[in-house]
Amino acid sequence: MRILGIETSCDDTAIALIDAAGEFDSDFSFRVLGNALISQSSKHTEFGGVYPNVAKREHQRNLVPVLMEALRQGKQLVEGKTPAIEKTIESIRMTLSREPELLVFLGGFLRSYRKPEIECIAVTVGPGLEPALWVGINFAKALSIVWNVPIVPVNHMEGHVVMSLLGDQRVALATNYKLQATRLPLLSLLISGGHTELVLSRKWMVYEYLGRTRDDAVGEAFDKVARLLGLPYPGGPHISRLAAHARKYGHSMSIFLPRPMLHENNYDFSFAGLKTAVSRLVEKNQPMSEEMKGAIAREFEDAVADVLVAKTMRAIEEYNAQTLVVSGGVSANTHIRNQFENSTKDYGLAVTLFIPPPQFSTDNALMIALAGYFRAANEEFTERESLRAKGDLKLAEKA
Ligand code: KG4
Ligand code: ZN
Repeated sequence: MRILGIETSCDDTAIALIDAAGEFDSDFSFRVLGNALISQSSKHTEFGGVYPNVAKREHQRNLVPVLMEALRQGKQLVEGKTPAIEKTIESIRMTLSREPELLVFLGGFLRSYRKPEIECIAVTVGPGLEPALWVGINFAKALSIVWNVPIVPVNHMEGHVVMSLLGDQRVALATNYKLQATRLPLLSLLISGGHTELVLSRKWMVYEYLGRTRDDAVGEAFDKVARLLGLPYPGGPHISRLAAHARKYGHSMSIFLPRPMLHENNYDFSFAGLKTAVSRLVEKNQPMSEEMKGAIAREFEDAVADVLVAKTMRAIEEYNAQTLVVSGGVSANTHIRNQFENSTKDYGLAVTLFIPPPQFSTDNALMIALAGYFRAANEEFTERESLRAKGDLKLAEKA
């Protein structure tokens, strides 16, 4: 099945085109035909976080160029006239009535290029920022009308899980890939700007929540601490750089930050207190030396890693998990990756760890196309009229 994946849940506009066949864990394989992304992060820097209306505007501007790039890579960008195209464009005017700028770009595209060879569109419907999600959904609806292909809705978090099972293979265009052999139960630690959750799958693509953050997501904590240290948004990579430098040169300056909820007998997390503790340190140490900033970044990263690793290891033991996935933007963090690699080895557990390469731990559309394929293989197509953005979409009903 040739499937186009569309992702606009946050501040990345991404589209991928894959060819996939077979069933999970037996004969499944896929080829990446195209994979394109425009990051908006520079547009949000001044707000210190993702600003929904800016995200919506940027997705409107970026979707058609990203679509063209993905199709071009997949040799599916074919110039040519389509009969009665003006009538077709008229028919999607209502669908894109809230995205007038996107309608103009899409109209221009449809007047110049033919329908590509695709059979299905997978689009992220949640979780995420609703104004941003709606742009992708309405774009998917418009393309589905014009090209007469069905739509399959995708949960962004499931995308992160499925993508992780690729392991650390480098993704190149037009190459055949398989997912790694995955033994169940599968435990997923999903850590991003909006999420921090531990989810168990005893069956493929069926989820149970074990725990989640009670306040800030871990990526949000990275971003807020970065801001306190005067670093730009998104802060994760900057903290990581400072912390690595401090580790290399041994700066610790006897700073201690708490390990919130480490010893509590549950799988929940809390990061807001950690941010408050950093803010107190920053107040007390003005003006801050570079050495102090590095020491704080290092201790913050250590505190986060300690809590994430300890709770995840406990869940592995309790549920006898055979596979561990760590994914979401924060799993790009080198120190956290290393801690998980060391701990799964040290524990001598029979668990296989999958962390996607940094390029694919952050948001992308390949993960949406992949998860969409498995949902489409189950025929989970949705009527265009009933597609909705669900900002707080869950992986399981019982959250
Ligand atoms: O999954 P993602 O790309 O977007 C969603 O939130 O869905 O995650 C973005 C988050 C941001 O908070 C960013 O600061 C964090 O991931 N992040 C990192 C690193 N790279 C990105 N956090 C820590 N270390 C990193 N290297
Ligand atoms: Zn994400």
